[in-house]
Amino acid sequence: MKVAVLGTGYVGLSTGVCLAEIGHEVVCIDVDKRKIDTLKQGKSPIYEPGLEELLVHNSSEGRLAFTTSHQQGLSEAEIIIIAVGTPQSDDGQADLSFLEQAAKDLAGHIVRDCIVVIKSTVPVGTNEYVKQLLLGQLKNNCEIKLVSNPEFLRQGSAIQDTLKADRIIIGSDDEGASEKIQEMYRPLDVPLLLTDVRSAEMIKYASNAFLATKISFINGIANLCEAVGADVEDVAKGMGCDKRIGAAFLKAGIGYGGSCFPKDVKALLHTSRKQGIPFSLLEETIAINDHQQELLVGKALKRFGELKGKKIAMLGLSFKPETDDMREAPSIKIAQSLTAAGARVAAYDPVAASNAREIIGDVITYADSAMEAAKDADALFIVTEWEEFKQLNVAALLDVMKQRIIFDGRNCLDEVLLQASGRIEYYPVGRPAVI
Ligand code: UDX
Repeated sequence: MKVAVLGTGYVGLSTGVCLAEIGHEVVCIDVDKRKIDTLKQGKSPIYEPGLEELLVHNSSEGRLAFTTSHQQGLSEAEIIIIAVGTPQSDDGQADLSFLEQAAKDLAGHIVRDCIVVIKSTVPVGTNEYVKQLLLGQLKNNCEIKLVSNPEFLRQGSAIQDTLKADRIIIGSDDEGASEKIQEMYRPLDVPLLLTDVRSAEMIKYASNAFLATKISFINGIANLCEAVGADVEDVAKGMGCDKRIGAAFLKAGIGYGGSCFPKDVKALLHTSRKQGIPFSLLEETIAINDHQQELLVGKALKRFGELKGKKIAMLGLSFKPETDDMREAPSIKIAQSLTAAGARVAAYDPVAASNAREIIGDVITYADSAMEAAKDADALFIVTEWEEFKQLNVAALLDVMKQRIIFDGRNCLDEVLLQASGRIEYYPVGRPAVI
């Protein structure tokens, strides 16, 4: 099938390369010329394991192309997938301006009957709104059908999540359009769930809000565990054995970040308020998460009395491992709180430092290795659980520090190694501290 993908962010790009990989002819369109030039050279503008290989392979096979021209990209498309961002507005609701612009661009350049698939995360009712926008501005007399097809991929495992998704949701009120999209995905051999448009839109928000709530729940339990002397890692394991609960997303720590959970929970809360349907559980999910991001700094303040003049080595900046994405990363708040309290922060992240510098700026310094960051530090903060940090030679790291104190925001250091590392103060989340 001939497919056009509008927007080459995480979702658009992963979708584009994976659809090419299963045999479709894909053109990815983006208004950002620099991005498109990079992609044309076979390079990925984002750090995402496995993406570049598929990009190079499918481009060289002639199934994947990139352009800034809507005219060129849309001329033959039977299916057009919109995957532009829907960031958060100041009042919490989803900002649909990129989507509105995408609809306008499409309306001017669609030259044949086609199916428009909305993959962007959009509030209930948006598919209908976009259809009206499109139809109202359409330059050529073509038949357009809309399908809602929310995306569930995670950054860092976007390719695997797309090729081996748990499910694909196809929301449509038109049988023919639904069948065509089912056919597009069929080579993936993934369960397909067919729904109406509004339910498909809601599934995405409900899923993300539920997962975020699961994280806040376990973080609430973690804080209680600290108070009563229990170990949240064991508690989560015990809970996770119950199939009704499931073991995933019960990892306690310094809270969720990223481009989806924070904004989607707020957008769903906005919808509930707009509808006059109370959903204070979501308020609590957000409140616990905000608190959780301050947790390590609070613990350090308690331990040191004050942080003025202290050097903190911060390991990890991205909102989670295997990505250079800094959106809503807990590291931002942590760095700001530490520097506001007078601490000097030296941070190290395997890939996110340059993105971090754009957001956090030069109020902290950026080291080239964990060892360099740790040199003469009064404490180590583990903020992102990169595999590299789990493999650290903790003993060697502690040796270059001024004080042997670790605040582990992700409970990711190896206990055996910690025990073998001599005198140490270790403060995890929701587990007894080692003092
Ligand atoms: C999420 C959803 O998982 C995905 O389905 C959706 O399409 C986009 O949003 P992503 O933001 O890439 O994906 O990352 P995810 O792995 O879900 O983690 C989100 C945040 O939650 C991270 O900051 C992570 O550190 C945190 N998290 C996750 C926890 O704190 N504990 C957990 O148990 C799981």
